[in-house]
Amino acid sequence: MFSPDSDGRRKLLMDRSAPGRVGTTMPPLDVPEQALPPADMLRADLDMPEVSEAELVRYFSQISQFNFSIDHNFYPLGSCTMKYNPKLNDEMAGLPGMAEIHPRQPAPTVQGALKLMHELQGLLAEITGMAGASLAPMAGAEGELTGMLMIRAYHLARGDTKRTAALIPDSAHGTNPASAAMAGYDVVTLPTDANGNTDLDALRAAVGDDIAGFMLTQPSTLGLFDTNITEVIRIVHDAGGLLYGDGANLNALLGRVKPGDLGFDVVHSNLHKTFTQPHGGGGPGAGAVMVNDRLLPFLPSPVVERRTDADGNESYDLASPPQTIGKMGAFHGNFGALVRAYSYIRTLGDSGVNAVSEDAVVNANYVLSQLKDLYDLPYDRTCMHEVVFSARNLKRDYGVSALDVAKRLIDYGVHPPTMYFPLIVEEALMIEPTETESRETLDQFIGVMRRIAQEARDNPALLRDAPHDTPNTRLDEAAAARRPNLRWRPQ
Ligand SMILES: Cc1ncc(COP(=O)(O)O)c(C=O)c1O
Repeated sequence: MFSPDSDGRRKLLMDRSAPGRVGTTMPPLDVPEQALPPADMLRADLDMPEVSEAELVRYFSQISQFNFSIDHNFYPLGSCTMKYNPKLNDEMAGLPGMAEIHPRQPAPTVQGALKLMHELQGLLAEITGMAGASLAPMAGAEGELTGMLMIRAYHLARGDTKRTAALIPDSAHGTNPASAAMAGYDVVTLPTDANGNTDLDALRAAVGDDIAGFMLTQPSTLGLFDTNITEVIRIVHDAGGLLYGDGANLNALLGRVKPGDLGFDVVHSNLHKTFTQPHGGGGPGAGAVMVNDRLLPFLPSPVVERRTDADGNESYDLASPPQTIGKMGAFHGNFGALVRAYSYIRTLGDSGVNAVSEDAVVNANYVLSQLKDLYDLPYDRTCMHEVVFSARNLKRDYGVSALDVAKRLIDYGVHPPTMYFPLIVEEALMIEPTETESRETLDQFIGVMRRIAQEARDNPALLRDAPHDTPNTRLDEAAAARRPNLRWRPQ
């Protein structure tokens, strides 16, 4: 009740300051007193908040509430797979044998950790139908770069130097063209056909001996399974190119379809999405890459190998594949994320892993079926783990945009869906419920979305000014990203 000022303004830490108030007690000096640095190195005018411990705790507790997380409420942020992250995984990652080891420790002292990594490599290879895996990349985007560097190394090792371009569909996540360009490739964009699949005619026209590979997201960022996939892969392989699978949407395929069986040569998995890891706001993540036999020798180093001595004793060690592209980071991946992914897969077991994709797909199709009468559905097909609506009908009829709908959802305590992506869908609202939500939560969300569509008709201003109940309302998001103001400075 005392937290905001009487004018409703939130109190900053500085506003709580009173001269001479302290929140800590320093212990008595028990070391020889040292002289201060020279006066010209001291800042006499440093204006620091002086607050009691209670005020400090209140301040941080209040600002911690400004964040939204999956532990607060429903978080249908499409393409980001904001599923509930079981606390058990955090507990496993916090075990002393996991959290208190150092990447420079000699292998014999960290056998358990190496064994976990080795088993995770095997589990991911099995889930994706590939021959091997590297856990080194620390984000999906880094997995993409790793994959494209391996494709490059593969062609060059065969003396095939003509391949200078990579094909990427117009629905792709922005990191795909960025990764291809960072790996040294020109990007050739392919159109999506009227059904939301790869346009086969355009693909046939684009392939040639200058194409290193095709980066395809399956299911696509439209939430659709590309039903042309076998033909796509045949066309690219016949032209000597390789298939890169962006596995960010692996949640839809788990236990049902293996990218390796489809013919992909390399696929990354956003472990932080599919295999749980509290993520968002830029991290932390893990973007393991899985490869078929062709690319196995090029995996980044290190990979974890199991060795068996003459007496049959097993041990684990770090190794470098014969034609490795080298290291993708300082050590061997984001270990905490790897432990969580391992714990999640082991906890689920085979049947649990299958249930993930089934429930994720059923949930998304339930949302689709309950909202398609009010929100435009550009590709009216059964979707996979997410559904992409368009608010273009609300924009046309009432001047209400996808952004307005998303901001209004905040007033109802729901995290906005992904907006304006994929770029080929006008006023896109990309909703990914994930498998961890109950029927009741989905019904509440559907109710809210239906109510918002009604509000758009009856009172569009309510949506255009939303959110109404947050510390900040509409931010200049470009300025917030490009010129973030992260420090308090004295006036
Ligand atoms: C389809 C797709 N590909 C790649 C990425 C990149 O993954 P990351 O954010 O872990 O770098 C994302 C992230 O949202 C994505 O949705």
